[in-house]
Parts: sequence; C-alpha cells; structure tokens
Amino acid sequence: MSLENVKLDLNYVRSQFPAFEDPISKDWSFFENAGGSYVPKNVIEKLTSFMTSTKVQPYAEYTMSKIAGENMDTAVELFAKMINAQKNEILVGGSTSINLYVLSNALRKFIKDGDEVIVTNQDHEANISPWRKLEQVGAKIVEWRFNTENHELEIDELKKLLNKKTKILAITHCSNIIGSVNDLKRISDLAHQFGTIVIGDGVSFAPHGFPDVKELGVDFYTFSFYKTYGPHLALLYGKEEILKKLPNQNHEFLEGKYPYTINPGGPNHEELASLIGIYDYFNNIYSHHFNETNLKIRQRITKINQIISDHEERITNPLLEFITNNRNLKLFGKSEIKNKSRAPTISFVSKKISSKLMSQKLVASNIATRNDNFYAWRCLNALGVDTNDGVVRISLVHYNTSEEVNNLIKILDLIT
Ligand SMILES: Cc1ncc(COP(=O)(O)O)c(C=O)c1O
Repeated sequence: MSLENVKLDLNYVRSQFPAFEDPISKDWSFFENAGGSYVPKNVIEKLTSFMTSTKVQPYAEYTMSKIAGENMDTAVELFAKMINAQKNEILVGGSTSINLYVLSNALRKFIKDGDEVIVTNQDHEANISPWRKLEQVGAKIVEWRFNTENHELEIDELKKLLNKKTKILAITHCSNIIGSVNDLKRISDLAHQFGTIVIGDGVSFAPHGFPDVKELGVDFYTFSFYKTYGPHLALLYGKEEILKKLPNQNHEFLEGKYPYTINPGGPNHEELASLIGIYDYFNNIYSHHFNETNLKIRQRITKINQIISDHEERITNPLLEFITNNRNLKLFGKSEIKNKSRAPTISFVSKKISSKLMSQKLVASNIATRNDNFYAWRCLNALGVDTNDGVVRISLVHYNTSEEVNNLIKILDLIT
C-alpha cells in the first residue's frame, strides 16, 4: 500500500481510548486537547502494571525493583528513538514549565552583561518568563513580535534582531493560540550563524506528530506528555555537547552525570514507565496501517505523522472555513491548513458576546471546550483580546472526527 492511499482508521484509533466509552466522557465532543489529551489503554495498562507489580524504589537487585528500573529506562530509550535523539540527550521532568526554569538557571552561567536574549510574544509564558529572568544577570531582553495583521512571526523581523551578542533565542514551534507552525529549521540555521542557542517549545506541535529534533536543528526542544496521550510529565531534549557543559543543578555527587544535572528531583517513576504505552499505541497504529515490518522506530513515526496530518487537515479545514466566513466571529491565525502549515488548534472570539458566554453555550451542547488566555498572555495582549475573558479554543487531534466537527459547525451557526 502506498502512503498516499492510507487513511487513518478512526474506528481503530478511537477503540484504543477508553474515554470514548466511559459513561462520564462518552457523550462529549472533546475539543480541549491542547489543554491535555485523552490516554490510550496502553498507557493505562503500563501505569496499572507498574503500580500493581513494581511500585518499589527502582534500580536495586531484587526482581520488582529491577523491572521497575528497566521499564523507566526503556521509556526514555524509546522516546529518544521516536524523536531521533540519543538517550542521554533526553530528560523527563514534571512539566515543560519546570524543565525550562531549570534549564534557564543552568544557562545563566553563559550570560554576560550586555548579552542579548530573544523571546517572542507568540509563545506560552513557559518559554518566555524563564528567559526574561536572565535580565537579572545582565541580559538585554529583545522581543520578536508577531505581525498583528497576519499573526505570524516573520523571519525578516528576526534577521533584524539577531547579532553577535544574541546568546539565546526561545521560540515556539507552534503557538497554542495562533496555531501556525514556525519554521524551526530555518530559524535555527539563522540563529546558529551568530552562535545563538535555540530553545524550541514543541508543546503545541508534538501532539500532531513527534518531530525529528536533529532535522529541526534546535539546541533544546520540549513538549508535555500529558498533551501527547500520556501522563503529566514533560520531555526536554538537549544537544549532548551543550548538556555536557551546563552547570549541575542537582546533588553535588551527580556532577558530570548529564542529563541528571538539569533534572533535580527527577520524574515520577510510575508515570515515566507508563510512557512505554504511548510508544506501544503509535507502534500499533503503524502495524494496523502499514505492512513493512523492517522500518526503524523513527521511520515508523514519520509515516504515522503523515496519515495523522492528512486526517487532521481533512477534519479541520471545514471548521476554519466556517469561522473565517462567519462575520460575527474573528479567527486568529491562518484560515487553512496546507502541508502542516498550521496545527488544528483554533482560537477565535465573538464580536457580539464574551468568550465566556460563547464557551458556556458550547459546553451546554456537550462540546468540551473553554475560554481562557491559556497562559499566552502576551499573545492575547498583542491581539487586543481581554486576557481575563480570553479566546474560545477548539483544539483537535487525530482521534476527533468529521462528524464531531460538522456538529460543532451546526451549533456555532445557531449560537453566533
Ligand atoms: C505551547 C505551550 N508551551 C508550554 C506549556 C507549558 O506546559 P506545562 O503545562 O507542561 O508546563 C503549554 C501548556 O499549556 C503550552 O501550551
């Protein structure tokens, strides 16, 4: 079967997620995936099995402890392969916000008076405030602002900001409000001409396909597992040559043992082991749709990414079209997804009613969504949106269906 002919089998996909049959959640269209996704049964099974059989301190010689440690290591190794990294380039921490705070503390050492740090106003605050705090050690903070007409971060603007003093560039791969996918490869190539360290926030990108971090060229990359079908943990990737040089943020005796050096406290053990379930889920998706058995993990992920993007594009474009053409609504970001130019994370406001009221009306029709600023506080300020009322956000992933989207369009048509 050629890739072009393979369509995501939605019945199969949805049968992997118990939430679609659970009495509490089954009657809802779940459109708050950018806040946190459902988990497949594989993750629940791994979590249950860890808690049932191996819930002990890992890495001792006795059987339960050995198995616990082995599963934790396997989870890291699998994720390294899924994103094309080495296992010692991956750390798993409690959240992206925590991971980036620790990283920014570690990078302080490299900042001298007058060095520059570029942040954007399109990012979630998690990838802004840790870098803005470098002002305390003498950095000049430079803001790369998005174009308020088309809501895009334009590379020509970045070119004006980068210079030999730029030490760090923190940039979202995909905004959790605007949804546009930023060209991290091009941005990293440009920044590296000035020796700048690039930190990519992939939290809103990774749920739609795990990236190849080497291909992106970023120095650090982060995403949150609770939005990529897993438990409340987050991954931070860092290039080995930089990780090695970072000052130890952990216990003294762990000096030199990167990436532990920037992971004080470490991850929750049972949740870490349950990440194997995310791998199992995607591997099962691969086997369900493709026949070739000798592909490596990363090659399988690339194929899965394609059928997921095709599906997301198919179900999202009618909604984008509807919102764009509805004169009572204002959409933020691109009005169409083409070749993964945008994530199916769709934010809008009503020109007539508050986002709170709009979201309440949707919830009353069993549409699981909400209004908020989603911690993209600077982004909303630049868009001229009241940060207390926020936007209404509909965020889809590959398990959402055309039927759900068509029903949403009908409801939006009635209430706007
Ligand atoms: C784009 C983006 N970056 C970062 C974060 C922060 O992630 P975490 O909740 O794991 O700290 C979020 C959370 O919503 C996000 O949407």
